[in-house]
Amino acid sequence: MARTITIDPVTKVEGHGKVTIQLDDNGNVTESHFYIQEFRGFEKFCEGRMAWEMPVITTRICGICPVSHHLASAKACDDLFGVDIPPTAKMLRELMHMCQMIHSHALHFFYLAAPDLLFGLDAPPEQRNVIGVLNANPDLGKKAIRLRQIGQSSIEKVGGRSIHPVSAIPGGMSKALSHESRFIMIKEMAEALELAKLALGAVKGVNEKYRDLIPTFASFKTKYMGLVNDGALELYDGTLRLIDENGGIIEDFDPKDYLNHIAEHTEDWTYLKFPYHKKSGWPNGVYRVAPLGRLNIAERISTPLANAELKEFKQLNGGKPVEDSLYYHYARIIELLYAIEWAQELLQNDDIVCKDVRVPVARQAGEGVGVIEAPRGTLIHHYKADDLGKLEKVNIIVSTAHNYSSMDRAVNEVAKMVLKNNRVEESLLNQVEMAIRCYDPCLSCATHQMGKMPLEVQIVTSGGEIAKTVRRDG
Ligand code: MG
Ligand code: NI
Repeated sequence: MARTITIDPVTKVEGHGKVTIQLDDNGNVTESHFYIQEFRGFEKFCEGRMAWEMPVITTRICGICPVSHHLASAKACDDLFGVDIPPTAKMLRELMHMCQMIHSHALHFFYLAAPDLLFGLDAPPEQRNVIGVLNANPDLGKKAIRLRQIGQSSIEKVGGRSIHPVSAIPGGMSKALSHESRFIMIKEMAEALELAKLALGAVKGVNEKYRDLIPTFASFKTKYMGLVNDGALELYDGTLRLIDENGGIIEDFDPKDYLNHIAEHTEDWTYLKFPYHKKSGWPNGVYRVAPLGRLNIAERISTPLANAELKEFKQLNGGKPVEDSLYYHYARIIELLYAIEWAQELLQNDDIVCKDVRVPVARQAGEGVGVIEAPRGTLIHHYKADDLGKLEKVNIIVSTAHNYSSMDRAVNEVAKMVLKNNRVEESLLNQVEMAIRCYDPCLSCATHQMGKMPLEVQIVTSGGEIAKTVRRDG
């Protein structure tokens, strides 16, 4: 008999999501979808607020990615108010950004992804969590906690708070870095680098262990997008680059022009919108972002250890873009290395403690766009303010949204591959969740949107008949 299987909630992801899998009479999958269920409407209720409040308001979108929103928002405000921030302010913002990368990538790899990858696909669910990692390998578990802690406490030193930072403001930074904080961070980043090398060893072990599975597990062609700086991996500033399925550059463009290059598709089964490359059309213009996307578009990395790893990564598909979802984990750890190395370089520069971190902001009215590469991909904040600086329009495209259609596809492909002839054991359903976890989605971020919200209400009689359907298309 045909039936629907629901995985609700999807575990070990940030926020709440649901998967539905429809089986036909023979117990084979006909269709599956990944739903992001919450709805929060952040863009809409920011309208009417003062633009300068946004770097602090938008950190509340998420407890995992607050630094990303804080910085994209501060950049959008700089653009809106027409100011160039001092060099040290840019260095401090980048440093805060690297600390968030360290925190977020370590959190995802060790706490959310590693339990599946280290114990194997058939491991009992009670083992597949961070406590399981701690029990099986206490030393590795403690080091994972330490790495994340270094990231988090460093965010506090630069950002003023460890979770919802406050120091990035329109025109620069509200505080300089103290000498004491600098020296603690230099010491801790050296420790972090050693811990990241352990993570690299662990992920390479995973690549080896799952060598046969990787090419068959949610491996598909898409385009890729991310920031580059003269062709090199870039997370804070730069040019947006889109490449095609074979690695050819489709276009490099100014992030401020994003509306001319990115459009958003809507489907009637979800609140979330699907960004795609405008000129390529939907669905041909689907692209992936975040670690796999960024390493596919980058020609090199500016720091030595991460660059050596990038060269190896590029060989995985003979120089062509790496298509396998499971390699997101490897790409994430290469970025972790980069974030630590780049934080070290920033900290070694004596200008990092310069007190000149802010320029005055005079203008109020205007329009501004701020784009950064958050841990989960390209994050866009776009504001328009009136003469008093009050916001008339807010558009945010969050990182997770860019990957939404690919996650949905990954779920569908893995479900069709593993669930056959009514076999629906827990370990098989976990593989469907694993497909989503490769992408490290942040569902709290993804649900802030106020776009076209298709809503359908059915009025059903006591006899079970649908008397009336009311539909609103947003
Ligand atoms: Mg939006
Ligand atoms: Ni988030």
